[in-house]
Amino acid sequence: MLKFSHAIVTGGSSGIGAALVNILLDDGAEVITLSRTQGDFSGHRKSENLWQISCDICDEDQLKAAFQKISDKWDHCDVLFSNAGFGISGTVASTEKSQMIKQFDVNYFSAVSVIQNCLPLLRRGKYPRIVLTSSVAGEISIPYQSFYSASKASLNMLALALNTELKSDEIKTIAVMPGDCRTDFTDKREKNPETWACYERSEERSISKMEEDERNGYAPEFVASQLYRYAGKRRPKALYGVGTSYRILLTLYKLLPLRLTTWIVSKMYG
Ligand SMILES: NC(=O)c1ccc[n+]([C@@H]2O[C@H](COP(=O)([O-])OP(=O)(O)OC[C@H]3O[C@@H](n4cnc5c(N)ncnc54)[C@H](OP(=O)(O)O)[C@@H]3O)[C@@H](O)[C@H]2O)c1
Repeated sequence: MLKFSHAIVTGGSSGIGAALVNILLDDGAEVITLSRTQGDFSGHRKSENLWQISCDICDEDQLKAAFQKISDKWDHCDVLFSNAGFGISGTVASTEKSQMIKQFDVNYFSAVSVIQNCLPLLRRGKYPRIVLTSSVAGEISIPYQSFYSASKASLNMLALALNTELKSDEIKTIAVMPGDCRTDFTDKREKNPETWACYERSEERSISKMEEDERNGYAPEFVASQLYRYAGKRRPKALYGVGTSYRILLTLYKLLPLRLTTWIVSKMYG
């Protein structure tokens, strides 16, 4: 397992990101977080090794200023956990374009901007890693969350491409796909208030099932431990599932006929 001395975590103020910060600090790393609000790590015995920078990653100027501050302090970064994200829900028929753009801005375009800003530091790391928090929804498109699914599928594509583009710098990119996890993510989901009456009941049923699954999902500490474990592999793959059941699900999804998997998803969330 690799050990990281300098780590950057986007979305480190809560949930999976905050759990990651605790693991990194426990393991002796210096950690910088980028999120709009600050998490409470005052109880951590190594909290002096943490620097939380307030930054909306969608704001290019804030992002540039944040990385200027980081470069003034550090000459390299070993691992970037690009973890910030959120979800929207609603039918394709009624989702406003502005919401679609916001979904992709936070989950995908800003993740790319963070990577672009972080590259000079990563290139000077010893075994540099970029770890993207994707989702099972990036492989299995979830009805009424199709834009969230598409934004996470884009992260998977990004990981696959970056492993070739950044090969000469020996930077490895890993997209990790957690399934349901009990964090504030569920309450922060932006639900489209507009819907066509004909789709209303199935949308409601689907979203409330999804929310229930999330509230009964993995603890963020477990998901963070898996992100950390994959980051530390010497020869990581580009894509990983999290937890035995989700890894089996992802494998079956690839093996079974598309007609059958589409029917199963439709039965579960239709
Ligand atoms: N929970 C699940 O079931 C689940 C499943 C699969 C994947 N995921 C993914 O896991 C990641 C972490 O989510 P979570 O479950 O831990 O939820 P969470 O507790 O809501 O954490 C989301 C984090 O993203 C940050 N963030 C959101 N928008 C931001 C912005 N514009 N600029 C900077 N930071 C921003 C938030 O910080 P601020 O609000 O302080 O800015 C927060 O720290 C997300 O990418 C999510 O899509 C979650």
